[in-house]
Amino acid sequence: MSKPRRSGYRVLAPKEVRSDDRELAYEVLVGLSEHPKRLPSRLFYDDEGSRLFQRIMALGEYYLTDCEREILEAHKGDLADVVAAEPVNVVDLGAGDGEKTFILLDHLGKRSIEHRYVPIDISEGAMSALVERVTARLPHLDVEGIIAEYSDGLEALAQAESSRRNLVLFLGSNIGNFDRARSRAFLRRLWNALNPGDLLLIGFDLKKDIDLLLRAYNDREGVTAAFNLNLLTRLNRTLGAQFDIDKFRHFGTYDVFSGAMQSYLVSLERQLIEISQLSLAFQFEPWEPIHTEYSYKYLRSDVTTLAKDTGFSIQAEFLDDKRWFLDSLWRVEKAPTAMPS
Ligand code: AVI
Repeated sequence: MSKPRRSGYRVLAPKEVRSDDRELAYEVLVGLSEHPKRLPSRLFYDDEGSRLFQRIMALGEYYLTDCEREILEAHKGDLADVVAAEPVNVVDLGAGDGEKTFILLDHLGKRSIEHRYVPIDISEGAMSALVERVTARLPHLDVEGIIAEYSDGLEALAQAESSRRNLVLFLGSNIGNFDRARSRAFLRRLWNALNPGDLLLIGFDLKKDIDLLLRAYNDREGVTAAFNLNLLTRLNRTLGAQFDIDKFRHFGTYDVFSGAMQSYLVSLERQLIEISQLSLAFQFEPWEPIHTEYSYKYLRSDVTTLAKDTGFSIQAEFLDDKRWFLDSLWRVEKAPTAMPS
């Protein structure tokens, strides 16, 4: 008799999720008090922001998704070979719509490799749609979705009793949204949560012609602009802010020194914005920016250094034909600590 399939998702630590609103208020208070003003990019992903990001991924100008899809199609067999020996949890950090992961899950199923799918995403709307879609397409798949931020999701991973090997997917250049120091800290935290021999498939957008980058983050249809501006709509809804989104514009630019695309919301006039839940108003000067996002671009040598510095060994590197994007397969290395004599 075949094992009953499990499929669903849970909201991790509902109490913490509720206190998120207070955390958001604090982050907005700190960020808008700074010079230059800034807001963290993780605030993009409410349900509407997640929907807009899915539209971005379908844009021709946003080449990242097509490149990574091509890589997964070309190398799903190599990845399956690496995990074929024992049952595996496929942990999808920041799963989004799971479209690219589906390529791998479908292939693991066809090869009869025992696996469970553990998507982790911050948006409940995106998660319920993902679980529904993936179970409709792969009815025999075991799915246990977790709605959480990365940090809580990593904690859940560390506490899981499962003796299975983990294959963690951190795709789509999500690592690029952390600055260099935070990317190291994040990967070290992930390393801590994992067991020796666990695997990480991590997607890096490589440095390339600057015009291509500028087009990818300033699309003609204005979807990226809507995605950026939605952050202000979110603050209006959750914190009683009074942003008029017609009085701000999206601006995406490339900083050659840091190697990052950077997104801003620029105030089109002098204005005072009240935020009722903070009992505060923030003054904006004409053309004053709020920094909202880093999207760091990498050299292959940066990737090698990053893996080594955070305790991973590189098992394989998969590139698309244009060599614009890299999915790097890392293995957790934990040398036994010597007993003090
Ligand atoms: C989710 N993240 C990797 C995207 C990026 O490319 O930095 C978010 C995004 N921002 C603008 N377009 C896409």
